[in-house]
Amino acid sequence: MNQSICVYPGSFDPVTLGHLDIIRRACRVFQTVRVAVLDNPEKTKTFSVSERIAMLEKVCASLPNVQIDSFSGLLVDYIRKTGAGIILRGLRSAGDFETEFQMAQMNSQLSDSVESLFMMTSPDHAYISSSIVKQIASFGGDISAFIPASILAEVNKRLDHK
Ligand code: COA
Repeated sequence: MNQSICVYPGSFDPVTLGHLDIIRRACRVFQTVRVAVLDNPEKTKTFSVSERIAMLEKVCASLPNVQIDSFSGLLVDYIRKTGAGIILRGLRSAGDFETEFQMAQMNSQLSDSVESLFMMTSPDHAYISSSIVKQIASFGGDISAFIPASILAEVNKRLDHK
C-alpha cells in the first residue's frame, strides 16, 4: 500500500466547487490523487458515470497529479487493486462526521491496510451538496457560486427549469 496515493471516492453527481476544493488541497499533500466515481446501478443519478468522469476530467485538467476513475462494489477492493494506502473524504459538518465515522470503521474492519483521512471542507463550501445545487438549477436559480465554471453550461442545460 502506497501512502502517497490517495483515493477520493464519491458520487460526484455533479462535481461541485466543494469537491474541487478538497481535490486541489489533496494535490498538495499526496503525490497522486485518484478521484473515483462510484458506479452504483441501483441508484439513479442525474449524470451517467461517463458524464461525471468527463466533467471531473475537465475541472481537474490543470492538476497534473489527479487521475479520474470509476469503481463498483466495495471501496476497499478497489483500493487494493490500485495499491493506494489512503481513503480521503471531506467533512462539511458534524452531520457528515456520523456517516464518515461509520464508513471509516467499516472500511478498517474490511481491510487493515487502508487508512481513512479527512479534510475539513472550506467554510465557503460547507453548505453545498450536489442535490441542493441540482434543485436550485432545476428552478432556474443561479448555481455559478457552487459549480466549476467549465462545466456550468452543461449542468444548467441538463437541469434548467425541469
Ligand atoms: N463539498 C461539497 N459537497 C460535498 C463534499 C464537499 N467537499 N463532500 C461531499 N459532498 C456532498 C456530495 O455532493 C453528496 O451530495 P448529494 O447527496 O446531495 O448528492 C453528499 O455530500 C455525499 O456524497 P459523496 O461524498 O459522494 O458520498 P456518497 O455517500 O455518495 O458515496 C462512498 C460515498 C462512495 C465513499 C461510499 O458509498 C462507498 O464507499 N461505496 C462503495 C460500497 C462500499 O464499499 N461500502 C462499504 C463502505 S462503508
